[in-house]
Amino acid sequence: MTDSNIESILHENRSFPPPLAFAAKARITPAEFAALNTEAARDNVAFWTRLAREELSWHTKFKQTLDDSQAPNYRWFADGMLNASHNCLDVHLAANGDKPAIIFEGEPGDSHTLTYRQLTAEVCRFANALKAQGIQPGDRIVIYMPMVPEAVIAMQACARIGATHSVVFGGFSANSLRDRINDAGAKMVITADGGWRGGRSIELKSAVDAALADNGKTVGKVIVLKRTGEPVAMQEGRDLWWSDVVKGQRDRCEPAWVGAEHPLFLLYTSGSTGKPKGIQHSTAGYLLSAKLTSQWVFDLRDDDVFWCTADVGWVTGHTYVCYGPLAAGATIVMYEGAPMHPDGGRFWKICEKHGVTIFYTAPTALRALMKLGDGIPAKYDLSKLRLLGSVGEPINPEAWIWYHTVIGGGRCPIVDTWWQTETGAIMASPIPGVTATKPGSCTTPVPGIDMAVVDDNGNPVGNPEQGGWLVVRKPWPGMLRTIWGDNARYLSTYWARFGNCYYVAGDTAHQDQDGYFWCMGRADDVFKVSGHRLGTMEVESAFVAHPRVAEAAVVSRPHDIKGESIFAYVVCRGTRPTGTDAEQLSAELREFVGKELGAIAKPDDIRFADNLPKTRSGKIMRRLLRAIARDEKITEDISTLENPAIVEQLRGRA
Ligand code: WTA
Repeated sequence: MTDSNIESILHENRSFPPPLAFAAKARITPAEFAALNTEAARDNVAFWTRLAREELSWHTKFKQTLDDSQAPNYRWFADGMLNASHNCLDVHLAANGDKPAIIFEGEPGDSHTLTYRQLTAEVCRFANALKAQGIQPGDRIVIYMPMVPEAVIAMQACARIGATHSVVFGGFSANSLRDRINDAGAKMVITADGGWRGGRSIELKSAVDAALADNGKTVGKVIVLKRTGEPVAMQEGRDLWWSDVVKGQRDRCEPAWVGAEHPLFLLYTSGSTGKPKGIQHSTAGYLLSAKLTSQWVFDLRDDDVFWCTADVGWVTGHTYVCYGPLAAGATIVMYEGAPMHPDGGRFWKICEKHGVTIFYTAPTALRALMKLGDGIPAKYDLSKLRLLGSVGEPINPEAWIWYHTVIGGGRCPIVDTWWQTETGAIMASPIPGVTATKPGSCTTPVPGIDMAVVDDNGNPVGNPEQGGWLVVRKPWPGMLRTIWGDNARYLSTYWARFGNCYYVAGDTAHQDQDGYFWCMGRADDVFKVSGHRLGTMEVESAFVAHPRVAEAAVVSRPHDIKGESIFAYVVCRGTRPTGTDAEQLSAELREFVGKELGAIAKPDDIRFADNLPKTRSGKIMRRLLRAIARDEKITEDISTLENPAIVEQLRGRA
């Protein structure tokens, strides 16, 4: 965030009480919210004990709620046994078997619905197919698919048989996919020929082939869903069509009862250093947090149609597409394609067509749609919408107000939800019938979550004008358990700063006079480009993989649609490119980085320099680079630079 953004947020003092008509019917009333908070404050462990007993269906009841003997490697409900897919599907069959579970909208306009009974049957058939292919509990399976119901079916089928899934976003490159497959030691990859996006078929199978080309070690089988019908190469003995493996499989499959701490999934996410880390989530604790927040924050009622636009490749697509709403027995919408296809009215058209009542998306999408003007949403009937949500990055007040007035007609509360891949579920958000909202603030923590803004010594920052570290002071069920294969990194990244007492989110935040939280963005070198999380190191490594690049440093700068964009400083081998050579190399490097990591990582700006500004100890002066990229005043002492003239070059003036 730039200083001017912080200024504007701190002076944002509009407050919107919950719309009366909404509050009158809300699932959680102010009194209930207060009671939940009181209960959690009185005895946090007893609070989670009660909820875990009431909300989850257990095969074997747990006796111990929280095991903190190995803190901060906390364990929740560890002696209990259950199954996540059973909790998302079977529990609804008796009363709601014919209720729609998934309403699917393909990008070309094809559409179909799966009821809970049909979805359960499909999950069981696929689960049986996985078993027939030799998949055992604890095996890791990588899922690399378009946003089609089969992605959820694959995830739920893994859960059903106790396999641990690791979904890789379909926009990631073959290289990124390979790293994740290898790190997880995956035994199988589930993919599709491709998916529709922006009117084109995006190949997925070819990326899998490239990722596996020099990796015969762990992956034995690849299952391929036919979606686009484009021809794909099938490798004899390794590759199998989805339709073939499910043929003849029974539509019932006894769930594998696993321990509460059994790893339900890994999800790779970027940090500021090193390769993406495999965030490991549990079964019971994760599911409990996912289900409760779906109910508390999204106010889910029986007749709601809930649409979370996130891809299943991100945590939002795990918690608020695949697990939370299904555990809560809701009807969800899944859309395969791009928001702008065939035009910027697609989201609103889908809301109208399927009667969406709750809509949850990212600020970057809202900003892009807002730019197209109010005339487009005005063409559609959005009157069924009753609640709107935002996630993934700070939402600027302008986009918030547009969302509220133009999309929500002023009658829908907005829930600005703050959370992370690591937290598993929403941590801070308005409760829609209770909390007065302020544009740009995620307001207050959800019940049971003890969040704070602290200074470098771990003391609460009392002053609203002053920022600090965003921390969570008590463990919670949905928290990550570790980083796959690297517990030391888990400890150092999230816990070491405050002596293993507080979970350190990596964000900076302010807390205003009403106790509301205002998240300002990352305190580390992690970017949010169009809501997607990327680390400096991965992008820099992608650059230096190019033969002409000797060194690279990337920073971000504010972007009016993407939120942040990538700005790269590149030092080439030999002399610094200029003129047409520089232009051509820039274009080439953009493509190259896109190919190395995925299109989302393509830098917007590339600047060539003779060298990079470093401190005496050899560390790149990122703050200086950031100030230059953002055209901000330089506050760094640059007199110690070996070559102070470099600053002019970095500014693009020399
Ligand atoms: C940012 C996405 C402000 C934050 C669920 C966090 C937000 C990172 C918000 C996690 C919000 C997420 N307001 N910032 N409502 N939600 N963030 O792991 O910087 O992709 O640390 O999880 O997104 O990103 P991740």
